[in-house]
Amino acid sequence: MKPILPGAPWLIAHKSMLGVNKPNKITLNGKDYVLWQNQKGEVFALNNICPHMQAPLSEGWVCQERNTITCPFHALEFDRNGRLYKEEKVDTKPLTQSLELIVKDDCIWTYGGFEPRLPISEDLISKISSEYDFIGVTETKIIRGEFLNFLLTSYDFNHQKGLHRDSFAIVGNKISNFQENGYYPSLDQEFTIARHSLADIIKYPAVLTMPKILKLRLEYCFPSVTVVFGKLSIGNLVQVFLVYPENEHQSKAFAILFANFKYGMTKFLLKDSLLKATEKIIEQDTNIIENSYPREKPKIRLPNEEIMFYAEKLYREW
Ligand code: FES
Ligand SMILES: [Fe+2]
Repeated sequence: MKPILPGAPWLIAHKSMLGVNKPNKITLNGKDYVLWQNQKGEVFALNNICPHMQAPLSEGWVCQERNTITCPFHALEFDRNGRLYKEEKVDTKPLTQSLELIVKDDCIWTYGGFEPRLPISEDLISKISSEYDFIGVTETKIIRGEFLNFLLTSYDFNHQKGLHRDSFAIVGNKISNFQENGYYPSLDQEFTIARHSLADIIKYPAVLTMPKILKLRLEYCFPSVTVVFGKLSIGNLVQVFLVYPENEHQSKAFAILFANFKYGMTKFLLKDSLLKATEKIIEQDTNIIENSYPREKPKIRLPNEEIMFYAEKLYREW
């Protein structure tokens, strides 16, 4: 496939998603990799195709003592550099490629083997993780649709009172202070929240923490990161939304949550509900992309759409 945004930094996983000494399969820009984390918290990635008879290494297992991945087919072992391990020693030459990873604040970034064209947004995430408590990571959601369509939804400021009205009771949305700032746009957003239905409250108790006027600050790191800082009635919530292209027809999205709550217990009481509510937002965005008809030139223009066109321009002129 023609790679999507080659040289862009992609945040492909949070360490808590990987487990320990367990192979995980990650697909990025049409290539499959096996990722594993050892008991020291170090993370490694190799091309997922076994150089013997092309079995998927991610179906194999990790040897803790030797820090190798074993192929499920003939049990050949490869070390972190893709070198064959046999008779108590490793070959000198790698037989399969390793994928370079950058691990910072438990976040795993990669350029997918391309020459980096933008620095990773490690400062923003470092700042968040030093100022807020880590809450958790949502389930990963597969989006069957073009990467650009999902990207544009993150920069679309007219869909909240349509798509996210259900469950979140968003009835108004004001935008101010949009700054282009190259690949790092930012803006302030203000939602008007209606009364939540009893059904929503039962399903997502966290919606009760949304004040009538919910103030948000959005900071983007194009193309993969959208950070939403929200002022809830019980403290501040940070949702780091992430997306990366698996191939030209499919992407993956997830979110990492941080918070500073006034009362320590809140974090434990609301953790699951906050994660579930965030998963719902991703699901609503995904559903509309998967169910919409092919894009045509719009016959109607809405306010603030220039933000979406700005993101589209960054994508097309990459
Ligand atoms: S295919 Fe992997 S060891 Fe044979
Ligand atoms: Fe959305």
